[in-house]
Amino acid sequence: MKFFIDTANLDEIRAANELGVLDGVTTNPSLVAKIVEDPERFTYEDFKEHIAKICTILDGPVSAEVTTLTADEMVSQGEELASIAGNVVVKCPLTLEGLKAVRTLSSKGIRTNATLVFSPTQAILAAKAGASFVSPFVGRLDDISTEGMALIEQIVSIYGNYRFSTEVLVASVRHPQHVVEAAMMGADVATLPFKVIEQLARHPLTDNGLDRFMQDAAVFK
Ligand code: E4P
Repeated sequence: MKFFIDTANLDEIRAANELGVLDGVTTNPSLVAKIVEDPERFTYEDFKEHIAKICTILDGPVSAEVTTLTADEMVSQGEELASIAGNVVVKCPLTLEGLKAVRTLSSKGIRTNATLVFSPTQAILAAKAGASFVSPFVGRLDDISTEGMALIEQIVSIYGNYRFSTEVLVASVRHPQHVVEAAMMGADVATLPFKVIEQLARHPLTDNGLDRFMQDAAVFK
């Protein structure tokens, strides 16, 4: 199972990468907006430079999302984003226009991530269009009282039936239990906020046990 970090914050990306368990990064316009210090002066060139900085931190896939709505515009923006670095994956929304863009970008050898996926039918379309990754948003489904992880189970099962090569990237992850369930279902990737990566490592019995070991180790001095 691969772990991506779901952030545009360079410090968080560096810190997660130093743990040695990071395989990639996902960003979206909202995550990028969070790191902008002066919105009046942040340009599209700044956005591309920021993606370039992320790509220097690690070699794994870095998803950068298009901010256009028609297929032609998404393809042109996607080509521009893909030219930033070889590990950029172009994120396109799962709309009819987005599907067309995914198909075109994929046929040009550009990796894509179909995002804002909330149903198995959208996931089937993403795979048929040649997306490298599909991003079902589990937390946002939970938010509207629909079980997000049930969608992951459906997609993993459907993709297995047809041996689709599109990787299932569990997105909108809110807590470690999402990660456990995703792993048990065989999802390829989970993209995690930094806080969730930290939570994966924590256990109170580990802390208590370590306290005891450190106290007892004092005898050796
Ligand atoms: C990542 O690819 C998604 O854009 C992200 O996980 C969405 O998370 P959110 O629902 O917490 O905004």
